[in-house]
Amino acid sequence: MREAVLKLWPEIEWIASPELREQVTRTWERAFELSPLMPDELNRIPFTLLVPNCPVTFMAHKRCVVHIARKAAESMLEFMGAALPIDMDTVIAGAILADVGKLLEYENAPTGTRQSKRGELLRHPFTGVALAMQCGVPDAVCHIIAAHASEGDLVKRTTEAYIVHHADFMAFLPFKNLAK
Ligand SMILES: [Fe+2]
Repeated sequence: MREAVLKLWPEIEWIASPELREQVTRTWERAFELSPLMPDELNRIPFTLLVPNCPVTFMAHKRCVVHIARKAAESMLEFMGAALPIDMDTVIAGAILADVGKLLEYENAPTGTRQSKRGELLRHPFTGVALAMQCGVPDAVCHIIAAHASEGDLVKRTTEAYIVHHADFMAFLPFKNLAK
């Protein structure tokens, strides 16, 4: 399973801390242990169930968000770094883990991917934090998982969480226009 996770996520290599790299990898492994989904499916299923016939796959979207978040953090550090500290490992790890809980939110049905009963009760920000805490992921990264989606609008986001939240939403909201 480790090999499959590292194949899905070349961006794990971007995490400088070996300990955090291990915790992130382990969280994805743990998610697959508990999920009805197989690693290969993430290159086929849509990234959201909120857009009918969504034309972008789960992995294309997730990896895009990680790339946007890293580039955004780099630009912010370049121009504003002296005033606004940003921990790059936290941004990257948080972006890679933001949707790991979807592995416990989705299930396969004859009609395609759908939200499971568990997913209805516990959306992926909640299950994502549960998985990550089991694997020793630091609180600053769990905070990003918790606060990346709309639930996080009720939370005082850290700088790193703002970056991942906006990276995620800029790569999601335009697709809602396609649904109209
Ligand atoms: Fe999400």
